[in-house]
Amino acid sequence: MKKITIVGAGRVGESTAHNLAKAELCREIVLVDVKEGVPQGTALDIQESAPIFDFDTQLTGSNDLKALAGSELVIVTAGIPRQPGMSRSDVLDTNLAVIYGIVDELLKSAPDAMLLMVTNPVDVLTYAAWKRLGWPRQRVFGMAGVLDSARMASFVALETGFSVKDITAMVLGGHGDAMVPMTRFTCINGIPVEHFLPQEKIAQIVKRTREAGAEILRLRRSASAYDAPAAAVATMVDAISRDRRQILPGVAILDGEYGLKDIAMGVPVVISERGMERVIELPLTPEEAAEFKRSAATVRADIERLKK
Ligand code: 2OP
Repeated sequence: MKKITIVGAGRVGESTAHNLAKAELCREIVLVDVKEGVPQGTALDIQESAPIFDFDTQLTGSNDLKALAGSELVIVTAGIPRQPGMSRSDVLDTNLAVIYGIVDELLKSAPDAMLLMVTNPVDVLTYAAWKRLGWPRQRVFGMAGVLDSARMASFVALETGFSVKDITAMVLGGHGDAMVPMTRFTCINGIPVEHFLPQEKIAQIVKRTREAGAEILRLRRSASAYDAPAAAVATMVDAISRDRRQILPGVAILDGEYGLKDIAMGVPVVISERGMERVIELPLTPEEAAEFKRSAATVRADIERLKK
């Protein structure tokens, strides 16, 4: 890719920019933020690490959304993060206005781009952006499941002592307390995790995964997670930039899959240079289907709030 714009030069945006630059996933990265000097300073700081990390990616910063013109991919991390005690939905109204501003600029200046939503509540904001853009769903998607799955895989590694290289985990559903960690698809070198851990340990991992974002926020108090989220964004961008056709959990607009329509939430998707190529529909057990439905209901409740 030639140009990627990251809107939002907070900690997630900054860490994302550094990851993308180091991996040389595009020629040019533009950081945009409303805070005067911040995107410019951040871009320059990362640029000055280029000789050390050995990358030729060029970074610039701007306070003007027009700087996203001509981007092939726009990553949205702008908005306010939640504070301790808040749910991701509590920041919906504030962040919705921010997202609409970005969407309107995209329509004018980068009508052929792909949009990768990171701002919370990510499912609802992906949906809201898609509705307003009117673009095919392949070009509008969000990041959550790669992060939630990495967290689950980390907890499995900590609990079993096995290498993370061998662990695959999958977390689907909305990126909220009702997310659906799929233990059936959580394996260590292909061996289901049930072989290594008793049910109560797995239940603890599931609970910790659901609350992982809040756990970081509780520890740091004033900042939510950004290192793991930015790494997860980089994984998705790598799949796009290198046209990998990788199966990753991503926030997708559903069009009948899993019995759901007119909603965005986390499902396994195929990511390539065309964006979210397609949704993979897994057969769910009755228990998984019930959890998925419960998760969808929480996302749906926020989508209904948009319509008011
Ligand atoms: C998280 O899960 C902030 O939603 C983000 O950490």
